[in-house]
Amino acid sequence: MLNEATAREIQVSMQYMLQHALYSGGGPVIERSQIDSKAGKFVASHSPFFFPGDTLKKIAIAEMRHAEAIAERVSFLGGEPLTQTKPFKIGNSVNEILKLDVMEEETAIQLYNQIINVAKLTGDEVTERLFRRILLDEQEHHRIFTSLII
Ligand SMILES: [Fe+2]
Ligand SMILES: [Fe+2]
Repeated sequence: MLNEATAREIQVSMQYMLQHALYSGGGPVIERSQIDSKAGKFVASHSPFFFPGDTLKKIAIAEMRHAEAIAERVSFLGGEPLTQTKPFKIGNSVNEILKLDVMEEETAIQLYNQIINVAKLTGDEVTERLFRRILLDEQEHHRIFTSLII
């Protein structure tokens, strides 16, 4: 379960960063109108403090930190090292990106609630606390992505 969590975190970290990078260039494949919307600026912005206080790039970095924290926990518990991540999805428009990413956050929230329950049952307080903290981040990401979908 913890390895699945690590694999998911690395997947979304790469997914969000590539989605950001693809749109931030404003290259010929991207329509200008997509970037000029509030959601477009969220996806493409290099500014770490663009309204609503977060950008997709910043969230991608947060997901990498989650991956790091979970992988360290797996290692401490003597678990198998992770050898595979999950395939990522990019999306063909800003709206599609946000819809894909909302689904990722929903899956994470479900999985992390399960992990919290197992950790509680087995008396693993450190894992429980770690996932309670990460869960708050995922709920916030879910709220931000949902609020930007048109
Ligand atoms: Fe995460
Ligand atoms: Fe997240």
